[in-house]
Amino acid sequence: MTIRRMIKSDVDEVARIVAETGLWQRYGLDFEKARSRFFKGLENGAEIFVAELNGEIAGFLWFVQNGAFDRSGYVELIGVKKKFRNRGIGRRLMEFAETRNVDSIFLLVSDFNTEAQKFYRGLGYIKVGEIKDYVVQGITEFIFYKKVR
Ligand SMILES: CC(C)(COP(=O)(O)OP(=O)(O)OC[C@H]1O[C@@H](n2cnc3c(N)ncnc32)[C@H](O)[C@@H]1OP(=O)(O)O)[C@@H](O)C(=O)NCCC(=O)NCCS
Repeated sequence: MTIRRMIKSDVDEVARIVAETGLWQRYGLDFEKARSRFFKGLENGAEIFVAELNGEIAGFLWFVQNGAFDRSGYVELIGVKKKFRNRGIGRRLMEFAETRNVDSIFLLVSDFNTEAQKFYRGLGYIKVGEIKDYVVQGITEFIFYKKVR
């Protein structure tokens, strides 16, 4: 598996991963909205990476250096294509984020997304707070944090 910068020709495939994931449907992020968000991100020089397995995009990571408190890294989005889940790709993407010249990483995870919470906890992230109705009314965002060095 290789991790490389996302380029414009990857956008449709990555937007398909977003669209197939029930989680993001609750945030109104359908294929078209995901597409425009990724295009905009690339145009603004965002750090978006894809994990490629035998030439196929298996997952992606959108990372923001100093994205939390102008001090810590922030994982804006991470996703693995359904057929590639539970094969260590999400872990590799998070480990990659941890090598990006940051002391610590923050991320938000939905209260109902217990599977991702288990995933993050297994990687050493701890819940340090929560924000009610932050992104979407009725969903509480859990704030997860890890000191990486
Ligand atoms: C969360 C997600 C990125 C994990 O990616 P993945 O490639 O399936 O995860 P990995 O195979 O690397 O798993 C790493 C560890 O987390 C654990 N884990 C992964 N998914 C899990 C789940 N659903 N329940 C419990 N543990 C889980 C694995 O058991 C593994 O532990 P191990 O290394 O001790 O065996 C992926 O499931 C996904 O894209 N989910 C939908 C989108 C999403 O929720 N994104 C996060 C939003 S905040």
